[in-house]
Amino acid sequence: KPYVVGMDIGGTNTVFGVVDSRGNVLASDSVKTQQYAEVNEYVDAVCKKLLPLLQQFGGAEKIKGMGVGAPNGNYYSGTIEFAPNLPWKGVIPLAAMFEERLGIPTALTNDANAAAIGEMTYGAARGLKDFIMITLGTGVGSGIVINGQLVYGHDGFAGELGHVVVDPAGRQCGCGRKGCLETYCSATGVARTAREFLVARSEPSLLRNIPSEEIQSKDVYDAAVKGDKLALEIFEFTGKVLGTALANFVAFSSPEAIILFGGLAKSGDYIMKPIQKALEENVLNIYKGKTKLLLSQLKDADAAVLGASALGWEVRES
Ligand code: BGC
Ligand code: NA
Ligand code: ZN
Repeated sequence: KPYVVGMDIGGTNTVFGVVDSRGNVLASDSVKTQQYAEVNEYVDAVCKKLLPLLQQFGGAEKIKGMGVGAPNGNYYSGTIEFAPNLPWKGVIPLAAMFEERLGIPTALTNDANAAAIGEMTYGAARGLKDFIMITLGTGVGSGIVINGQLVYGHDGFAGELGHVVVDPAGRQCGCGRKGCLETYCSATGVARTAREFLVARSEPSLLRNIPSEEIQSKDVYDAAVKGDKLALEIFEFTGKVLGTALANFVAFSSPEAIILFGGLAKSGDYIMKPIQKALEENVLNIYKGKTKLLLSQLKDADAAVLGASALGWEVRES
């Protein structure tokens, strides 16, 4: 069978596409995740767009498998469970639901794990045996690879590094706790920092032209590009929090590299420099100068789809 399907379920968008054996995303489409309060409606909406896409390539018979990456996705059970940034609560057997409607063997895993698999297959982790993938999106996710193996843990949930507490008295997190890394270093965390800084300070900033509730991390980036001091400080703060956390992660598994993925990681030196600085300043002496900080090399537009699709080749047909 010549193709696989990759699907990335994000807090904002769900993107899916047909991928060939060389890692080309041949066609893709998306739905807005938050539009569907009921998970059945959601699966229907996705299938309604995905089925015609499959038809273009000869239908389900031509598809080896589908790989799905989702927040809190569990590879062992094919379920998502209590995902802070998704509208449906409780344990949901998404892999089985899609498999049934599409007639395609489906494997589901955590979205950041999917990114790590994609990076090993097509990107910056080719040839790396020990690395940590960090995804910076609506949430912060991670995929930990040790000795060439993705770490799943005893229950399939290993690697929730976005919910490592960096400030016990800190910001309220969607997971119900306070001060998780994700509340500072996700795209939404950056927007939160912007709002806080704008209230705490009086200096002029381009960000003051935007209604506070509407500010997005992209606006902070655009302002930084124009030399806005406050915007630059927001990235410095974000980078410092993230780099310090990464220094702790290094002590956990001594990775050869940490790979950053997601829109925020593309904010260039504004964020990369402070991350690198905090990482080097805070790692234990034995690690100094030894951990590479890399950017994802998955092709921009459909990187998450490509990452998830890599899992589609490994799906066992039942
Ligand atoms: C979830 C992770 C997910 C990350 C990125 C976090 O809130 O707990 O499972 O990988 O968001 O979507
Ligand atoms: Na993970
Ligand atoms: Zn949390």
